[in-house]
Amino acid sequence: MNARLSVNKTHFLNDSLMKKVLTPFLVACTCFVNAQQKIDAGVIKDKMQWFADARLGIFIHAGIYSVDGIDESWSFHNKKISYPDYMKQLTGFTLKNYNPAAWADLIQESGARYSVITTKHHDGVAMYDTKMNNLSIVKTTPAKKDMIQPFFEELRKRNIKCGAYYSLIDWSYPDYPGFLKDSSRYIVGNDYDRWNRFRNFFQGQIKEICQKFNPDLWWFDGDWEHSAEEWESQKVRTIILANNPNSIINGRLQGYGDYETPEQNFPVSRPAFNWWELCMTTNDNWGYHHDNNWKTPYEIISIFADAISNGGNLLLDIGPKEDGTIPDEQVNVLKELGAWNKRNGEAVFNTIGGLPQGHFYGPSTLSKDSATIYLFLHGSSGGNLMIKGLSNNIEEISVLGSNAKLTSKIVGKISWSPVPGLVYINVPQQALDKYVTVVKIKLDGPVKLYRGHGGLN
Ligand code: GLC
Repeated sequence: MNARLSVNKTHFLNDSLMKKVLTPFLVACTCFVNAQQKIDAGVIKDKMQWFADARLGIFIHAGIYSVDGIDESWSFHNKKISYPDYMKQLTGFTLKNYNPAAWADLIQESGARYSVITTKHHDGVAMYDTKMNNLSIVKTTPAKKDMIQPFFEELRKRNIKCGAYYSLIDWSYPDYPGFLKDSSRYIVGNDYDRWNRFRNFFQGQIKEICQKFNPDLWWFDGDWEHSAEEWESQKVRTIILANNPNSIINGRLQGYGDYETPEQNFPVSRPAFNWWELCMTTNDNWGYHHDNNWKTPYEIISIFADAISNGGNLLLDIGPKEDGTIPDEQVNVLKELGAWNKRNGEAVFNTIGGLPQGHFYGPSTLSKDSATIYLFLHGSSGGNLMIKGLSNNIEEISVLGSNAKLTSKIVGKISWSPVPGLVYINVPQQALDKYVTVVKIKLDGPVKLYRGHGGLN
């Protein structure tokens, strides 16, 4: 059960209602491995708090795939390009304009509280000086340098948490079974010695990354190619927590992670997981690509509002070019998002997921004491908004980022019944945000919601 939802629950949801709301989703969830299947939410609650409050992270897919602007790793795996041609990109990866301080400034400006960067993608090219093999941008590209350490240093100066993306899959390593979509090197069950050699290798890299960079967060990827037993997921978790017991581990470790990571498409109903994060691209690709299907700032902000309304975070991806510069479209979208966060951050950071479905037709969040509701209005939809089943009295209504103070009208209240009336609020055109407007409603106490059938009780 979602920790933040259960906080709300004490204010306004009774248990049977909670079951009614969540049962259809829980049934759907039993079909796949839950990220936290093996982890007790109560044990990790404290270390998860910064993550729960953070709401926004920036994902960075940096890799040699940016040289030709082709699909990260998948292009050779799916045979769009031959493996030797893919690897020729090593000679074109220069990082000649890499400025980690400027990256960290941009991330800070976006409002993000954490950032996750690829330390190694499925192609096996380490973005730091690994001692476990020779395939790294330090040893095999003209860049000749580690990208990770200087970036983490700049993030830490700005109090932004540091995340390491690490692909468990390594399609380049000679002892890894998988290679191309229709050809593997061997089957684990037939050659445990070979699999053990790979295990020593990848776990060695994990230890290296722990010791060198001490990530606040680990973002594994590719766990689907093997089982928890084959990866030794529990041991991997132990290695990481022995180095730093507060490290957070994402949910792609076959049940041994701390939070869930839906990808690209927003979950339609509120996930039942304790903590979750939507990872999403700014166009249709993770790495730098010749792809102009950019999401607009409005689209990104409205998806962000949807994620936080449902108690999750957004991990928004950018893909730098081979020289280390970030495409203008991505710089622009991060700045627009940051400006919106400056106007509306009170409704975003350190808040909890909003009203359950049915009370307001749009996203919302709540202050931690749940005595303030923030309603998100999409686009230029001003005019009247309506809230159903709000039992509290309203003390004040305002629009974030403007000086507008609004009033409400209660409609349909039966004076001798405890059932609340409908709250109508008129939002004038001139108070609207250019992307998503936030209406702040201060209540007389923690939110109390009525969820019955109307009438006299
Ligand atoms: C998928 C892809 C991978 C990408 C990741 C980001 O798992 O395999 O290429 O890095 O999503 O979430």
